[in-house]
Amino acid sequence: MPALDLLKTNSPECWFQSSASLLEAVVRSSEDAIITKNLKGIITSWNPGAERIFGYSEGEIIGSSILTLIPDDLRSEEDTILRKIQSGERIDHYETVRINKKGERLDVSVTISPLKDSSGKVIGASKVLRNVTERKNLERSVLQAEKIAATGKMAATIAHEINNPLESVLNLIYLAKTNASDPDQVVTFLNSAESELVRVSHIAKQTLGYYREHSAAISLALSELVRETLAIYEPKLTVSGIHIQTRFDCSAKITLRKGEMMQVISNLVTNAVHAMPSGGTITASVQEATDAGRPGLLMSIEDTGEGISPDSIESIFEPFFTTRNSIGTGIGLWVSKQFVVGHKGRIEVQSSVDPISHGTKMSIFLPFDNPYARELAKSDPL
Ligand SMILES: Nc1ncnc2c1ncn2[C@@H]1O[C@H](COP(=O)(O)OP(=O)(O)OP(=O)(O)O)[C@@H](O)[C@H]1O
Ligand SMILES: [Mg+2]
Repeated sequence: MPALDLLKTNSPECWFQSSASLLEAVVRSSEDAIITKNLKGIITSWNPGAERIFGYSEGEIIGSSILTLIPDDLRSEEDTILRKIQSGERIDHYETVRINKKGERLDVSVTISPLKDSSGKVIGASKVLRNVTERKNLERSVLQAEKIAATGKMAATIAHEINNPLESVLNLIYLAKTNASDPDQVVTFLNSAESELVRVSHIAKQTLGYYREHSAAISLALSELVRETLAIYEPKLTVSGIHIQTRFDCSAKITLRKGEMMQVISNLVTNAVHAMPSGGTITASVQEATDAGRPGLLMSIEDTGEGISPDSIESIFEPFFTTRNSIGTGIGLWVSKQFVVGHKGRIEVQSSVDPISHGTKMSIFLPFDNPYARELAKSDPL
């Protein structure tokens, strides 16, 4: 009798039989791999979806260890999975790598649930596994293309900007050499050369992180990172008559490139300091938030400084836009934005030049699910 007809009968036995065969039909026709294993990690069932994804037939693989499908470098995952399953926990949609019969690595998304006997004792696990290699490859190439485009654009702009002061330095050295008989003139030329080089060095410092920090991201409490960065500036702030207030409503961890994010916080704090030459207050906050349905953390750095005029506000994230020609190069916010966008986050500004309630608030939203979190999850999946 077809499975659906069986469902129409009333007897509990028939119902049980019908739901069992219905379930079997679902398992057999699933595009996803559905695999069960016992607590020793031995495969006990294998559907056609698993055969399609991994290339092993049911007869070949049943009785083998699940480690057959796990690449050598990720084998420690299995112990963690088994420990979680034994304590009755479920693991939802975690992305990792498995290996097929040909030895090729596949990107997969796996959900693992404990299998229990009638007394509720855990006797094994069922895994539903989807091959996401194509999607991952696409994501990787888009990310790579974005990185190359961003790096190329940044390198071109910086090269252009560094070239001008370097040309002046060459000129000034030439002038110093040709006026060697006049020490006062030489000192004047060298002083000018020095200030040009200070500018070049500032640009290098602001952008260095971008190239240097290809190191893996880490999971950390953002509030701690803000605290740590503010502590670096504290002596300077105290001397400048700037008071710090913090509102850290959460200690949630998030995966970030620590160096990049420290650079972002430093840039915001430095801007706030420059906006308050006669002192004021910096308020730093971190809280949980959602942006377009994405959960994450919202960090803000607010000052009681002069504010940004409506004419400038549109341009502040553009490279080399500055109103502080003597002290700034105008790349702080541009670089910060690149870093935030690299984390799939958003940076926003609110500012007022009102004579009474002037000040600027920079807010940064960082989603928990960002490319670095995914990279980290891949190397340390559970
Ligand atoms: N907190 C702030 N208060 C007032 N103006 C600000 C603030 N932050 C940024 N700005 C404005 O935005 C401009 C661009 O800022 P950005 O940090 O990119 O460059 P900069 O501070 O001028 O130079 P750099 O950061 O390269 O040393 C600043 O010159 C200033 O006009
Ligand atoms: Mg700045």
